[in-house]
Amino acid sequence: MESISVGLLGLGTVGSGVVKVIQDHQDKLAHQIGCPVYVKKALVLDVNKERNLDLESGILTANPYDVIQDPEIDIVVEVMGGIESTKEYLVEALKQKKHIVTANKDLMAVHGPELLALASENQCDLFYEASVAGGIPILRSLVDGLSSDRITKMMGIVNGTTNYILTKMSKQGLSFDDVLAEAQRLGFAEADPSSDVDGIDAARKMAILSTLGFSMNVGLGDVKVSGIRQVAEEDLRYCDQLGYTMKLIGYAHRQGEKIEVSVEPTLLENSHPLSAVNDEYNAVYVYGEAVGETMFYGPGAGSLPTATAVVSDLVAIMKNMRLGVNGKSAVIPQFPKKLKDHSEIISKYFLRLHVEDEVGVLANITSIFSKHGVGFEKIMQNPVHEQRLAEVVLVTHQASLEAYENTLVELRDLGPIREVKSSYRVEGGK
Ligand code: NAP
Ligand code: HSE
Repeated sequence: MESISVGLLGLGTVGSGVVKVIQDHQDKLAHQIGCPVYVKKALVLDVNKERNLDLESGILTANPYDVIQDPEIDIVVEVMGGIESTKEYLVEALKQKKHIVTANKDLMAVHGPELLALASENQCDLFYEASVAGGIPILRSLVDGLSSDRITKMMGIVNGTTNYILTKMSKQGLSFDDVLAEAQRLGFAEADPSSDVDGIDAARKMAILSTLGFSMNVGLGDVKVSGIRQVAEEDLRYCDQLGYTMKLIGYAHRQGEKIEVSVEPTLLENSHPLSAVNDEYNAVYVYGEAVGETMFYGPGAGSLPTATAVVSDLVAIMKNMRLGVNGKSAVIPQFPKKLKDHSEIISKYFLRLHVEDEVGVLANITSIFSKHGVGFEKIMQNPVHEQRLAEVVLVTHQASLEAYENTLVELRDLGPIREVKSSYRVEGGK
């Protein structure tokens, strides 16, 4: 091969980083793959937009077919986002025998199996390392580094935007809206940041991680999701008082043949290694039966960190091209997917209630918990001034989700309980 030419679909935060990494690390890349690599075309929405990049003239185009049907382009890098029309471009590119790199978890969580099958059919590679946890090489670690082990648990902070928001709200008392605007300015947030704050982005990433880690076909619909919009300043204050840190945690657990996968704001004991992961940083804790505990940490979003993952995928494809083994590395799930039911999901929970400040209420609450076999390890009560209410905050012992949900239903029906203000999962130790 004299050179390898790459076509970009998208030249925004990640695409610009890809151009910079290819330009700045040209020597290293050429040494690894044995020839120079260059960007031949880049699809953008607005070809006249000011871009802080050193680009040759004629590279930008607003026509996707200039990239995906260019016979000289070997590899298409999709960093534009979107699902359905983007999928059509990638299908066409694969039919044109182009290898693909994508950073698009939205696309891979929905159409991943279909696109991977089409890639194999066309003897093409399709790699997507940057789609989960930005610059952390977690997918390759699961597929290659831990391939001999049986993974039973993954816990991840896999969304940089929400971690940035929760960190700044807890540590600096900043408002949700102000911090979200800052995360958007820094390029961490998605074009529509509701997928970050509502947990959807993290859920897509957990679907991808669980599919690879558990070797089951896990889709977005299998992930129980809630985001961080409802997290109140009071919740963060109680977390602090009780020795917890609030994080949006992706949780994937296998027990026997069954799995659970969720994304939800979770109180972590301050001793948990994930509680120290701050700002836009991501981390994925992986437990394997043989290896034990491992943890992968790094920047989960941003231009250059994400671009390093994209360009590593490019290198992997280029090495496969040299060896003539493209299209052979797609990982096909081995096991049928079986989800746990709510009686099999076990956790501790934090609950904050507003109740009438009258005699006997606490006793009523305790008896409802005991009726459902849910004990608690911490309980406190504070007056809510000016409303003649009391705020009751408690943390349960381990209980099944089913028992906890039944407890909540009965608590909501109890007259003196004015409002269930918040309820979160609690993860202790490791
Ligand atoms: P971005 O900054 O909004 O850039 C999107 C790029 O695609 C822009 O260059 C835009 O053109 C172009 N584009 C968008 N829609 C287009 C269309 N319909 N036709 C032609 N061009 C189009 O997005 P990003 O942050 O780089 O994210 C790109 C992808 O990477 C997404 O899938 C995202 O989820 C994923 N990702 C992002 C990060 C991160 O930290 N940002 C990390 C990991 C993964 P213009 O430049 O003309 O607007
Ligand atoms: N919006 C995503 C995040 C980008 O904040 O993590 C990286 O996937």
